Amino acid sequence: MNILITGGCGFVGSALIKDLLAQGHSITNIDTQWFGINLEDHRKLINIKSDIRNIEGIDFQGFEAVVHLANIANDPGVELNQNLSWEVNVLAGKKLIEQAIKNNIKKFIYASSGSVYGIKDEKDVTEDLDLVPISTYNKTKMVAERLFLSYSSQIDFYALRPATVCGLSPRMRLDVSVNLLTYQALSKGKISLFGGSQIRPNIHIKDMVNAYKHLLFNNVKPDIYNAGFENYSLREISEMIQKKTNCSIEVTNNNDPRSYRQNSDKIISTGFEKKYSVQDAINEIVEAYNKKQIIDKDIYYTVKWMKKLGLNN
Ligand SMILES: NC(=O)c1ccc[n+]([C@@H]2O[C@H](COP(=O)([O-])OP(=O)(O)OC[C@H]3O[C@@H](n4cnc5c(N)ncnc54)[C@H](O)[C@@H]3O)[C@@H](O)[C@H]2O)c1
Repeated sequence: MNILITGGCGFVGSALIKDLLAQGHSITNIDTQWFGINLEDHRKLINIKSDIRNIEGIDFQGFEAVVHLANIANDPGVELNQNLSWEVNVLAGKKLIEQAIKNNIKKFIYASSGSVYGIKDEKDVTEDLDLVPISTYNKTKMVAERLFLSYSSQIDFYALRPATVCGLSPRMRLDVSVNLLTYQALSKGKISLFGGSQIRPNIHIKDMVNAYKHLLFNNVKPDIYNAGFENYSLREISEMIQKKTNCSIEVTNNNDPRSYRQNSDKIISTGFEKKYSVQDAINEIVEAYNKKQIIDKDIYYTVKWMKKLGLNN
């Protein structure tokens, strides 16, 4: 398949592209390369260094699907420059989907976020529950979903609402919860938890990649799908890491109220199978750290790096 990916140099995108290329697909990747390229040269890969806000000169002909990942991809990153965030996370998406429709691209798959639900007490947070986004990041995700949905009579539109992704990637992120806590345990021998009772859903990066592939290659009904399979409190995740690393756990006051569980039965009912776990991600990070394959770098932290790039004004 000939696929256009935005944000393919990122944490999720670089893992997805590596996998798709290995399966023989042709990829064109539009990315500002803020966090580096993170992809090896490949005869079936075209990297276009561009901002998705400026796609006018890019040829959209011949693609069968778009996977749209390029966003300012976390809460504090979005707060750094709200105008930039609304432009990238929402307005640029309008041009993208319109170009896709104009060029008869069949599928448009959008990386939304499970965080659109906000705080939810329900045991099963399914796709039909109200969205109560708390942060600006969550709001941009919700508004972009609505924007894309308004085009759904003209293109097969899919929104995935992923949980927090964990595990190793060519573009490593150490600011996502399981990765962050495991790295803290390994580098400091101690995990510092704010609160710890907040429940968060998780997804292993290989399952994340497989979820995008599932929507790309199977005849799944265009719709909105949760993709989060293990709902754990941060305390529970920390205890899993403690068992593996013998670290200590220090709990301080909670400054982040977001707490929700995700139910992903809907995507499972379309034939998707979860194969990996949070425990796998912890084990993989510990192994990579012990082999000195992960060392602390500012580029692994979205906000720190965006500030260095001057993207905060
Ligand atoms: N990582 C997670 O836990 C998670 C969870 C839910 C949803 N998501 C969503 O998945 C997508 C990918 O997340 P990620 O973790 O890979 O983030 P990331 O920050 O690692 O990757 C985002 C990529 O997009 C690029 N980019 C940003 N703005 C751009 C622009 N204006 N034009 C072109 N390229 C641009 C960046 O250079 C980067 O390579 C995002 O939309 C994110 O909101 C991620």
